[in-house]
Amino acid sequence: MTRPFPEKFLFGAATAAYQIEGAAFEDGRTASVWDAFTRVPGAVVNAENGDVACDHYHRYPQDVALMKQLGLQAYRFSTSWSRVRPDGGAVNEQGLDFYKRLVDELLDADIVPWLTLHHWDMPQALEERGGWTSRAVVDRFVEYALSVHDALGDRVQHWTTMNEPWCSSFLSYTAGVHAPGRTSILDGLLASHHLLLSHGRAVQALRERAPGLDLGITLNLTLAEPADPDDPLDVDAARRIDGQFNRWFLDPIFRGAYPADIVRDIREVDAEAVSAWQDAVQPEDLDAISTPLDALGINYYHGEMLSGHPQPGVEGNPHETDGQERPTASPFPSHEGIHWVERGLPRTDMDWEVQPEGLTRLLVQVGEEYAPGVPLYVTENGVAYDDVVEADGTVADEDRAGFLRDHLAATLDAVEQGADVRGYFYWSLMDNFEWAWGYAKRFGIVRVDYDTQERTIKDSGREYARIIAARAI
Ligand code: FCB
Repeated sequence: MTRPFPEKFLFGAATAAYQIEGAAFEDGRTASVWDAFTRVPGAVVNAENGDVACDHYHRYPQDVALMKQLGLQAYRFSTSWSRVRPDGGAVNEQGLDFYKRLVDELLDADIVPWLTLHHWDMPQALEERGGWTSRAVVDRFVEYALSVHDALGDRVQHWTTMNEPWCSSFLSYTAGVHAPGRTSILDGLLASHHLLLSHGRAVQALRERAPGLDLGITLNLTLAEPADPDDPLDVDAARRIDGQFNRWFLDPIFRGAYPADIVRDIREVDAEAVSAWQDAVQPEDLDAISTPLDALGINYYHGEMLSGHPQPGVEGNPHETDGQERPTASPFPSHEGIHWVERGLPRTDMDWEVQPEGLTRLLVQVGEEYAPGVPLYVTENGVAYDDVVEADGTVADEDRAGFLRDHLAATLDAVEQGADVRGYFYWSLMDNFEWAWGYAKRFGIVRVDYDTQERTIKDSGREYARIIAARAI
């Protein structure tokens, strides 16, 4: 029996500027933190970078045609700050023109543009002035947001300020796994606050200018479960991961306060950092950060099971992987005594667990506990598998098609349990530059041959097209 999706449910796919555009130094664009980081020896697998990526900057008409062929109703993409305001300075009309052309192409194809302002590629010149650890960056971000709105406000309804601020703070400034590669607890804390403040201020500025826009943020969330719900150490391990990954962002956004238990935990590890961070948080900041939203985007890849007891044979945690044979610092400021439990679930090429039902529970819980009345969107969900290309260029990726079906079904389960989920964006439309992993990990429903830039719809893409056409699973 097939199960229909709600009438207005949006089916889409997602990408991000640095991962697909290429044309890294064309038409006035200057370096972002990722252009700089990819040149640091050992930062990225095979020393790869996004200079060319999928050459989407030049091939966007063909890519939009592919979206059309797949039947996508919405396309989530990000604008590059370094293209729009090179070095974080004056507006670059040529950069904005690219996004005008892209959005026009989407609208002509009847595809809803879903715009993200920051998907991790801050101008390197701003990083050199402190990056996200500096409060001055907040005004720069608002200016950038408004200049994108100047160009596209008449054509784009859905605006997302930040993609996954956990990654652009703790993974980038505390673990050093992502650009700019810093390893400081304080820097991660400051970055998280200035990312959130920039989000809040940008929402306020955009809403003041254009009250009818749909404004939101995208968070990467996990489902952190204790191995034994009756074991206090396991319960505490799950509390800490939930706190540092989910609540550190959900609480200020929806409740106007940072989670006190996590502040306390981090203080035990680095009291000086917590004091310096507290000095940087001004009382009115939380009002801006908790400005009401029109949408919450949730990126879900996997949940996790935690224990307070050492796990024989299991090392590290799924958030730390960067593809290099070297230890990385933990992105969790307070990590001591947390252990990840192997629970026998299938794993992807990223070594991430496959747990579709976790998505159902996450959507229901977040909707009820944090965002009643706020429409939810799965803004990313997808999988890397090692694709095998047939002689005729096709990819029979039944594993990815299965992942997609299972997670769409899990999303529908959440809707049926009362969660107000309005759409799903598969990550990613096409194979692309997967950050510290370079081109080694393929998430696309469209294959990209990086030698020829040829695109081929994988079997998973055909499966998605069938589901979208039927609007049922
Ligand atoms: C998310 C990122 C996205 C992509 C996927 C696999 O954390 O937002 O750019 O790298 O993971």
